[in-house]
Amino acid sequence: MFFQVLSSLLLALAASASPALLPRVDVPAPFNSSLFKDLNVSRGLNYHYYAVPADTGKPTLLFLHGFPSTSYDWRHQVAFFQDKGYGLLVPDMLGYGGTSKPLDPQLYVSSLVTRDIVDILNAEGIDRAVVVSHDWGSMTASRLANYFPERFLSYAFLTSGYFTPTFFATPYEENLNLSQAVLGYKNLGYWDFFSSEGADQIILEHFDSFWDILYVNDTTKTITDFSPLGALEAFITNDTRILPADYVTPEERAIQMEAIRQGGLAAPLNVYKIVRGTLEGQDDKGIPEENALIHTPLFFGAALRDYISVSAPIGLAGALIASNSTVTIREYNSGHWVQMTLPDEVNSDLLEWIEGLGLDL
Ligand SMILES: *[C@@H]1O[C@H](CO)[C@@H](O)[C@H](O)[C@H]1NC(C)=O
Ligand SMILES: *[C@@H]1O[C@H](CO)[C@@H](O)[C@H](O)[C@H]1NC(C)=O
Ligand SMILES: *[C@@H]1O[C@H](CO)[C@@H](O)[C@H](O)[C@H]1NC(C)=O
Ligand SMILES: *[C@@H]1O[C@H](CO)[C@@H](O)[C@H](O)[C@H]1NC(C)=O
Ligand SMILES: *[C@@H]1O[C@H](CO)[C@@H](O)[C@H](O)[C@H]1NC(C)=O
Ligand SMILES: *[C@@H]1O[C@H](CO)[C@@H](O)[C@H](O)[C@H]1NC(C)=O
Repeated sequence: MFFQVLSSLLLALAASASPALLPRVDVPAPFNSSLFKDLNVSRGLNYHYYAVPADTGKPTLLFLHGFPSTSYDWRHQVAFFQDKGYGLLVPDMLGYGGTSKPLDPQLYVSSLVTRDIVDILNAEGIDRAVVVSHDWGSMTASRLANYFPERFLSYAFLTSGYFTPTFFATPYEENLNLSQAVLGYKNLGYWDFFSSEGADQIILEHFDSFWDILYVNDTTKTITDFSPLGALEAFITNDTRILPADYVTPEERAIQMEAIRQGGLAAPLNVYKIVRGTLEGQDDKGIPEENALIHTPLFFGAALRDYISVSAPIGLAGALIASNSTVTIREYNSGHWVQMTLPDEVNSDLLEWIEGLGLDL
């Protein structure tokens, strides 16, 4: 009896202590922990991903998250689509979660990351998938269309739209001036901070303040306190607290923040180094000219209160320029994190769009 009590006490202690002691890479329900996999992709990096096989006749949906996130960003979509028999592939992108976190920015350019994603499709025996992307996941989705058009049935872009092959050829300072002229503020000024040495540590030292503004309820605050040059650094180093949105529960927030804290931000911030500098622009010169246009259907979900990506005019224009096929456009009364803010609307719009594709699988 005593031993039983003692051992259950020890087990309970071990269970409650384990999150701090062991890296927990697998995110909780609705993800089924037995369906996470790891793949050593062809360039020798590990990718950790969630994989649900498709029912006969259903396509596989490939969900690509952005910054600073993991596969957990897609929890509402996973819950919805896995019950309907869709195949799911939800990787932790390079730099995040259970996936490798190399520190060399050159390893993050799109020609390499898209190859990794196609390696995952190959390992899973998936010929063609439907892509659903958000934030920097949309850069990868755009380049999958440019480099591997034969492997994808269609593309959905949420918030951040299609990045044309020449998007990153424009020098950063020019884009800053352009946004100042057009929007009245420099929406991408924070790239300067994110791409600077030591930004990862500064953010982690002021992590609550950072997460507040990242998921702020009143998204107009980002116009003054996130986007402009120097604004975000001033906001967080002051440990300013601001009301966060309520569509992320405190429990979900803790899971999201812990996943990023454990992996650190040095690797995830590399994407800002390649787009702020010239690495991505140079890499994109390898895109075959004939692949600039997308010939399969596109979905674009515009977040009307996203003042950082300014998704309605910019992403929308990208999607329309990119397409030699049908473009389905949906607008959401939402800030940047539309898949979490309005999951029911986003899920049903995506479902309707996918069902309407008339895929013959
Ligand atoms: C998780 O996936 C495994 C393997 O497919 C399956 O046996 C199990 O029933 C699933 N668990 C839940 C809770 O769906
Ligand atoms: C991954 O594959 C490479 C060869 O492509 C090999 O050298 C390396 O040892 C593998 N890594 C792991 C962790 O299996
Ligand atoms: C951006 O605008 C500033 C201030 O008007 C100007 O000094 C600078 O030359 C501009 N830079 C570019 C790349 O256009
Ligand atoms: C959160 O934002 C919504 C929409 O902008 C607004 O209606 C609401 O009043 C805000 N909540 C709080 C507590 O400020
Ligand atoms: C710094 O914090 C104070 C007190 O919370 C606040 O009033 C002020 O606006 C903050 N400054 C910045 C730049 O966020
Ligand atoms: C656009 O698609 C049509 C077929 O739907 C095709 O005939 C045409 O060549 C395409 N245009 C370009 C520029 O690829």
